[in-house]
Amino acid sequence: MKYALLGIGQAGLRHYEAFKKIRRLKFIGFTEFDKKKAINFSHKNNVKHYKNLKDIINLKPDFIIIALPHSFRLEEIKLCSINNINLIIEKPLALNSTQLKLIEKYIYKKKLIHTISFVHRYRKEVLKSKNFIINNYIGKIKFISEMMISQKNALLPKWIDDKKKSGGGVLLYNAIHSIDKLCFLANSNIDYVFAKKTNINNNIDVEDIITVSINFKNGLLANLTAVFLPYKTTPKWETKIFGDSGQIDINIRKGLVLIKDNKITNYDYLNYYKKNGQNYNFYAQAKSYIKSLKTKQPPLVSIKDGINSVKIVDAIYKSTKLNKAIKIKY
Ligand SMILES: NC(=O)c1ccc[n+]([C@@H]2O[C@H](COP(=O)([O-])OP(=O)(O)OC[C@H]3O[C@@H](n4cnc5c(N)ncnc54)[C@H](O)[C@@H]3O)[C@@H](O)[C@H]2O)c1
Repeated sequence: MKYALLGIGQAGLRHYEAFKKIRRLKFIGFTEFDKKKAINFSHKNNVKHYKNLKDIINLKPDFIIIALPHSFRLEEIKLCSINNINLIIEKPLALNSTQLKLIEKYIYKKKLIHTISFVHRYRKEVLKSKNFIINNYIGKIKFISEMMISQKNALLPKWIDDKKKSGGGVLLYNAIHSIDKLCFLANSNIDYVFAKKTNINNNIDVEDIITVSINFKNGLLANLTAVFLPYKTTPKWETKIFGDSGQIDINIRKGLVLIKDNKITNYDYLNYYKKNGQNYNFYAQAKSYIKSLKTKQPPLVSIKDGINSVKIVDAIYKSTKLNKAIKIKY
């Protein structure tokens, strides 16, 4: 199989490292706006830099990874889909529902296998928890509490604070992973949301704090809080799942705790991450996607999951504006 990469920033490089580990794959080229970055990457990895996506499409890759800033998506998705190229699209699929409408008719091609890089789903601690839930370890889930705290460090790209390029703040850059994870664990669509946002850094035009109250269609309740700080902090990405007979605490990159029959069991994954690296989930995602392409089976994260997450984000922002609960229209 042959593949190409659009954008070799933070996420692009993680995808590159992940797919490099898979045998019998040929990396045929990449696009990158930043010339210096492109030349260095091209020399270091002996791969061709293309200025134009059309030139890559002419090489007939089996799939392309889109790892561009949020505002660069639509033309790339359209062009690749028209040319029958499968896609891994970095989140979010689109900035909002208006943009979704522009690409919907292209992305729903039956024979194409597109996925969204909701890479948290591929973390060992998340998959293990999903397995516990499916096997009824904690009974019927009643409530999930999700909390993300992170520092917006100097290495992060500047465009994330520019609303025109990012489409939004902590919700679109980070917490959209939480939304996908909550839907995955709840195994239900969200019915309605009520949200508030605020800023610690008032010099940016996107939110750096958001808090959302979520009602799922299956009756489950959830709470999501995401904080993206302009100073050093105690980072955390934690999901607490409360069932009617037990509890699971997921600590991203650390492990999980299972509470069942009044017994607490610790699953410590620190050594797993030490051995495999913090971004091992990109490799798990890559393997899973290649398997999907080979077997023509649907990927773990479907294009529909990507579409739903954009509609949920839209509803959350609408709720912050109107100060009322918003029902999601699927
Ligand atoms: N899944 C994850 O865990 C994860 C982590 C980080 C970022 N992301 C996502 O990945 C995407 C990229 O984010 P990032 O943090 O890597 O940003 P980034 O700025 O580090 O990387 C984007 C790269 O694309 C290049 N670029 C911009 N426009 C281009 C164009 N039209 N053609 C070719 N190259 C272009 C930039 O020069 C830059 O090198 C975003 O959608 C972001 O949300 C996902």
